[in-house]
Amino acid sequence: MSTSNEAKKAAGEAGAALVEDGMHVGLGTGSTTARALRALGRRLRSGELKRVTGVPTSPGTERLARAEGIPLTTLDDRGGQEGAAPLDLALDGADEVDPALNVIKGGGAAHTREKVVAAEAERFVILADASKEVKRLGERAPVPVEVLPMAAGPVARHLEKAGAAAAELRTGASKDGPVVTDQGLWVLDAHFAPEGLPDAHAFAEALAYRPGVLDHGLFLERATDVLVGRSSGNGVKHRRRRP
Ligand code: A5P
Repeated sequence: MSTSNEAKKAAGEAGAALVEDGMHVGLGTGSTTARALRALGRRLRSGELKRVTGVPTSPGTERLARAEGIPLTTLDDRGGQEGAAPLDLALDGADEVDPALNVIKGGGAAHTREKVVAAEAERFVILADASKEVKRLGERAPVPVEVLPMAAGPVARHLEKAGAAAAELRTGASKDGPVVTDQGLWVLDAHFAPEGLPDAHAFAEALAYRPGVLDHGLFLERATDVLVGRSSGNGVKHRRRRP
């Protein structure tokens, strides 16, 4: 197994180990979260874990969860526990994590549903490997912005005015033309490399009420924990957000 695969597996398994009997769990999207789902499936099948339900963030995750035998539910079903957050825990990957546990997500264009699920979770746990750790968000990964197709041009110009070096329409790897999201929309990638975002909060603010924008991949002050997997059996580094 490659070093990166080992690290993702370590982070995924550590995430799955946080799940306890009876929990409602947000199920993120991506290759690292997939490792967590497989580990969760194993724990459920062995009987070590019971009565767990998951809320998937994409059709891909839904398919994997079903294949792993993880029972699925929605954000509206909290099993009759009034007043509690709908989800005890959400597990998800990231494209970048900064020292304050702010995150860029959306490398798989699933960030909009991922953010809805993260906002409903008492604990939002990011599963990563060391390649995702940066000093400043945007050093390597672009900020994905999900847009209405007819607004792509105006929003791209707005992103560049707001400081992006370039805003590019994301196109498919095995399909001609734009990537179409699970909502039927498009994705613009706002690039800030190599310096990164001078002020991630200001950029998020500039997107907050922009017509045609559904949501973006900046998850600021949202993650409660980050599990950074290491290779060669060196375990996992657990970073927690300071209150
Ligand atoms: C999905 O759109 C993303 O937010 C992923 O969670 C993120 O890109 C991390 O994916 P990997 O775990 O595959 O690196």
